[in-house]
Amino acid sequence: MIELLEGDLTTLAVDAIVNAANSALGGGGGVDGAIHRAAGPALLRASRALAPCPPGEARVTPGFLLPARWVIHTVGPIWQGGMADEDAVLTRAYRSSLACAEELGAKSLAFPCISTGAYGFPAERAAAIALGILQAHGDRFARLVVVTHQPRDTRIYARLLAGERP
Ligand code: APR
Repeated sequence: MIELLEGDLTTLAVDAIVNAANSALGGGGGVDGAIHRAAGPALLRASRALAPCPPGEARVTPGFLLPARWVIHTVGPIWQGGMADEDAVLTRAYRSSLACAEELGAKSLAFPCISTGAYGFPAERAAAIALGILQAHGDRFARLVVVTHQPRDTRIYARLLAGERP
């Protein structure tokens, strides 16, 4: 079962949180910036050492000062109008993150809304893709959380989780 929470991903005491990063794994704004601020400078050293991370792939670091034990850094697609394989790359970003979590033996995992901020992926379309994948994997985790940060996304996920089609 998928849990929906509106708030700050960095506060969650789960085994792993997923970061919506860039290919350089060099920190940034949005959820990436929040994660790096909360984890401390050791995270940047660790993540940069694992770069580049092409869109659709994922890399694992410790969580350092975060309550989460690990950070799974994935890179979503930059929205370019929908004709540049964006859906497939977003799908791969979620799948790669889940595969990393399973390899780690993580039992609890939390995701942000990958690509829907600075990368401009339409929120509703991204949520439908994310939920399709997460619902298929939900039984492998004791806790699988989607953390929204904007009421818009909370409404979209709540509607989809209630079974409505986008
Ligand atoms: N907790 C949870 N979600 C958050 C938080 C937070 N603390 N801060 C922002 N968000 C949400 C945004 O509201 C958005 O819905 O994360 C979602 C993803 O937005 P971005 O962080 O902008 O990520 P993305 O669109 O994938 O763009 C990635 O932005 O920060 C840079 O380095 C990052 O270059 C990369 C790009």
